[in-house]
Amino acid sequence: MSVPETKIPETPEPESSSFVSNLISEIVYSPVNLLLTVIIVVLVYKILKSKFSKVSVEAPPPPLPKIRKDMTVAELKQYDGTQPDGRVLVAVNGWIFDVTRGRRFYGPGGPYAAFGGKDASRGLATFSVTSSDKEYDDLSDLNSMEMDSVKEWEAQFREKYDLVGRLLKPGEEPTNYSDEEQEETENADHSHDKKEK
Ligand code: HEM
Repeated sequence: MSVPETKIPETPEPESSSFVSNLISEIVYSPVNLLLTVIIVVLVYKILKSKFSKVSVEAPPPPLPKIRKDMTVAELKQYDGTQPDGRVLVAVNGWIFDVTRGRRFYGPGGPYAAFGGKDASRGLATFSVTSSDKEYDDLSDLNSMEMDSVKEWEAQFREKYDLVGRLLKPGEEPTNYSDEEQEETENADHSHDKKEK
C-alpha cells in the first residue's frame, strides 16, 4: 500500500510584506505612479524643510522711545504711522495712547487705520470705524450708553498701551511732564543706590 502523498501547503508570505512588495512593484513598473511618488516626496521634503529652516523670522523692530506729551488734535494727526519711525497714537476719551504695538490694526492699511493719529472716541462709541477732522470733539451729544462704551474702551487702552498724555481742548495748556520724568529717573537712581549698598 502506498502512502498517499501529503501536499505541504506553501506558506503564504505575511500579508504586510506582500502588500509592501506589491506597492513597490506598482510604483516601479508604472511610470505614472513613479512620477506621483516623486512629486509627493519632493513636496513633503519642501514642507519639512520650510518648517524647520525658518528658525529666525524677521526680528521685530526695537520699541520706540516712550513719549510723554499732551497734544492738540492737529499735533496728534501726524502720528498715523506714516512717519519714518512708524509711531501710531490714538486718543480715547481725552487721553492719548501709544498704540504702535498695535500697528497692524491702526497703522496704514490696517482695519482701524481711520483711528490712527485721531480721536477714536466717537467711532468706538458708535461702532463705526470713522473719525472726524473736528478741532476737538467734546462728545457732549453722546448718550449715556455710548459714553459708557467710550469709558470701557479707555480702560482697555490703558491696560494694553502706554499713556502719552491728554488730548488738549482748544486753548488748553499742555502739562509739563519733564518733572515727572526727572522724578522717575531719581527714583530709579535711588533704587539702584539701595541695591548697591
Ligand atoms: C464685522 C465687524 C468686526 C469684526 C469681525 C472685528 C474683529 C476684530 C478682532 C478679531 C479683533 C481682535 C484682533 C486681535 O486682538 O488680534 C478686533 C479688535 C478691535 N476692533 Fe474689531 N471687528 C469688527 C468691527 C469693529 C468696529 C466697527 C470697530 C470700531 C468701532 C472695531 C474696533 C476694534 C478695536 C479698537 C479693536 C482693538 C484693537 C487693539 O487691540 O488695539 N471693530 N476686532
